[in-house]
Amino acid sequence: MEAATLSRIGLAGLAVMGQNLALNIAEKGFPISVYNRTTSKVDETLHRAHTEGPYPLTGHHTPRDFILSIQKPRSVIILVKAGAPVDQTIAALSEHMDPGDTIIDGGNEWYENTERRIVEANNKGLLYLGMGVSGGEEGARNGPSLMPGGSFEAYNNIKDIVEKVAAQVDDGPCVTYIGEGGSGNFVKMVHNGIEYGDMQLISEAYDVLKNVGGLSNAELAEIFDEWNRGELESFLIEITADIFKVKDEHGEGELVDKILDKTGMKGTGKWTVQQAAELSVAAPTIAASLDCRYLSGLKDERVEAAKVLEEAGLKEEVGAVGTGIDKKQLIDDVRQALYASKICSYAQGMNLLRAKSVEKNWNLNFGELARIWKGGCIIRAVFLDRIKKVYQRNPNLASLVVDPEFAKEMVQRQAAWRRVVGLAVSAGISTPGMCASLAYFDTYRRARLPVNLVQAQRDLFGAHTYERVDRPGAFHTEWTKLARKSK
Ligand code: 6PG
Repeated sequence: MEAATLSRIGLAGLAVMGQNLALNIAEKGFPISVYNRTTSKVDETLHRAHTEGPYPLTGHHTPRDFILSIQKPRSVIILVKAGAPVDQTIAALSEHMDPGDTIIDGGNEWYENTERRIVEANNKGLLYLGMGVSGGEEGARNGPSLMPGGSFEAYNNIKDIVEKVAAQVDDGPCVTYIGEGGSGNFVKMVHNGIEYGDMQLISEAYDVLKNVGGLSNAELAEIFDEWNRGELESFLIEITADIFKVKDEHGEGELVDKILDKTGMKGTGKWTVQQAAELSVAAPTIAASLDCRYLSGLKDERVEAAKVLEEAGLKEEVGAVGTGIDKKQLIDDVRQALYASKICSYAQGMNLLRAKSVEKNWNLNFGELARIWKGGCIIRAVFLDRIKKVYQRNPNLASLVVDPEFAKEMVQRQAAWRRVVGLAVSAGISTPGMCASLAYFDTYRRARLPVNLVQAQRDLFGAHTYERVDRPGAFHTEWTKLARKSK
């Protein structure tokens, strides 16, 4: 093909995300070639490029034609299901690629798979990027947050494209070079873990307002719309307000009340919690969101348990606290509890990123990560601009909890936070995320914890020794002998 007609970039994998990202790239003026194993998807994308544009997008039905239609050094984005499909797609495309070309995996891939593929690609003279793409279908089409990690040379080959295609916020495009190896996938994974925490905390706020405060869906919609005009302004708060407005087309009331209380999940939240354990980083709020998804999956068991416990005398809602509640106070308390819990959840996520950055020597820039999450991604929020500024002020901050401004805000909100958790506990309504965040806050802020007793127990039964507060060294005590003697 003539050089003039070659595409600037290619994209293989035309499911929802791939199709929309390809159209976004074309719309920004970068000629793009697309390919998909099922050729009908190619034709569908071509049709959309024609009707929505026309945009400079060409479709190809074979890997060879697809690759040869792209100008060198070629950059090829693949957006297929994580795991084996990525390896299969790489195999089909790379045989037609030349040294210096780049493969960019845009899926939610496990970071170690990316690191394996970087080596495999390099052995063929190819460059490789693992790029987190956040924002769902709408983000892919109109401006995602992009988290590319791997070859810096490969990133520079597509920098002009991704900076145009990404969501745009006041301080630039929501994309940056994350770092080497699988860092891009890891950052996207933690983004998802934080997303799980955010969604869990919002669901708990909803639960307390609905079941303790007795708010209707119309009132909930109003409250979340109002919260979206303040410190909680964010994509997830905005969409939550919208969800409460949607009527059920098959019956009375709102659709949200007809949805089965059983969540799905694709795995990134689980990986986040696994990595936190591997790195000895406390992430209780994110873990609580994962456990709640697991427990929601036990729907039949929970229906049975409700019956058994009710027969044993326990109502599903223990305390009838709905009466005599000051609704206005409750609403404001829940807002404060949600915000304070969110700070703890983000602190956990950022601490996990820091631990991994140290382990892998990625040198992650936390201010930049918060900046590119300000737009396009699922956790996009005004709040992230605050976090960006915190890390720009102090890149080595031990935790968001001890940033002077966030610390003050948490102290100002802790009374409301404790009231909400206390009310929920009395009402028998579980708020695992808010409780986890509060326990995290109360544990992290205490100079002395009751683990002196744990150390004594470990030394008594396992002779694991302990340190003392008043002198250096490791000590062991014959606890039982001494205890017997003292009788
Ligand atoms: C994003 C989302 C996306 C994720 C879905 C489903 O950043 O656009 O995080 O990548 O896959 O939200 O995630 P779960 O099925 O694990 O909830």
